[in-house]
Amino acid sequence: MENLAPLYVNHIAEQNRRVADVLAREQLKGLAIHSGQYHRQFLDDINYPFKPNPHFKAWLPVLDNPNCWVIANGIDKPVLVFYRPVDFWHKVSDVPDSFWTEHFEIKLLTKAEKVADLLPKDLDGWAYIGEHLDVADVLGFKSRNPEGVMNYLHWHRSFKTDYELECMREANRIAVIGHHAARDAFYQGASEFEIQQHYLSAIGQGENDVPYGNIIALNQNAAILHYTALEHVNPAERLSFLIDAGASFHGYAADITRTYAFGKNLFDELIKALDKLQREVVDMMRPGVRFTDLHLATHNKLAQVLIDFDIARGDAASLVEQGITRTFFPHGLGHMLGLQVHDVGGFANDERGTHLPAPELHPFLRCTRVLAPKQVLTVEPGFYIIDSLLSELKAEGRAKPVNWEMVDMLRPFGGIRIEDNVIVHQTRNENMTRDLGLN
Ligand code: GLY
Ligand code: MN
Ligand code: MN
Repeated sequence: MENLAPLYVNHIAEQNRRVADVLAREQLKGLAIHSGQYHRQFLDDINYPFKPNPHFKAWLPVLDNPNCWVIANGIDKPVLVFYRPVDFWHKVSDVPDSFWTEHFEIKLLTKAEKVADLLPKDLDGWAYIGEHLDVADVLGFKSRNPEGVMNYLHWHRSFKTDYELECMREANRIAVIGHHAARDAFYQGASEFEIQQHYLSAIGQGENDVPYGNIIALNQNAAILHYTALEHVNPAERLSFLIDAGASFHGYAADITRTYAFGKNLFDELIKALDKLQREVVDMMRPGVRFTDLHLATHNKLAQVLIDFDIARGDAASLVEQGITRTFFPHGLGHMLGLQVHDVGGFANDERGTHLPAPELHPFLRCTRVLAPKQVLTVEPGFYIIDSLLSELKAEGRAKPVNWEMVDMLRPFGGIRIEDNVIVHQTRNENMTRDLGLN
């Protein structure tokens, strides 16, 4: 990994520049960005795992500390209010000392409710950015998550700084280690639960550290798009394995999927065809291309795969038109990636937040943006045997093009998804996932 300190200098300058710009436009004095608070479980004294406000972690990699604040006006050195209670029950975060600390004036807060002492005296013109509107109310912020500021920040967050790109490469590097360990565990006969343990231990991150709940699916479970159940018991016969698993680095996410066949068979050939399709779609990414068009192009390519494997019959255009490809590939081609797995700004058409919706027939597409340099996206075409969707085809009299014998043959294998994380540059794409050795 590149040395982060020099990259961070430009990153923090860019954060300050954005704040100065948006404050001038929105006629505000500054932003008070709250890391968040613990959420308590109902009727319990146990908290849910803490997840910081993404607008807070955009400034600095403090990921585990509630009641912290970044106070910025874009001109003065930003203030970090850093929470350090006197507490003999829990670990108290150390006073930060890292590559980023010199860029903040750090003020220590020992009691969360005393934060007013460290905030600007007159909050008129200051906007609260965070989740806890009740806290903002008590403190006297009149402006809370103002729409103009949020739209602006969300739009600009899709253009990653070089520091952020390096963090995302590192998140990918870590996740790829886990994917290799998981693949080996699959071929050695591990259960879903055991594969998860191998994955987490290989990357050195716990279930609350990874950016989303891993999808580790054997056989037909691979057809459940958000399968997170983790069976302890092995299936009678081992056929296929779909793993959608990421890693975090300094608050940035990797989001990677691979699918494996246990034997050399038609399903294995189908994985290879999807893999080729996925690489072709990645190659079509370039500045100026709208992601929606890549999603639609993927349907055209998938129609040809269905024909080539005799899963459906007819010509490619009519399979797309009849909605056959949507039955086998019901989700979107991908999404923006960054501080959040499904990063903000996917539907923004400009920095004012003009919303560009997904096409009506493709409601699950999460990104309609025009691609531009420094954006990071996932590209994740899939193919699944999903009985509820297939029975809709039958119920609506659209079943004819489908070769149901082939569907029956493929059903026990569940499905396929191939997902990489790609940086768009001016003259090339950088497929971080493949560059780091995951085939
Ligand atoms: N892991 C969630 C997704 O691929 O979007
Ligand atoms: Mn994924
Ligand atoms: Mn994804």
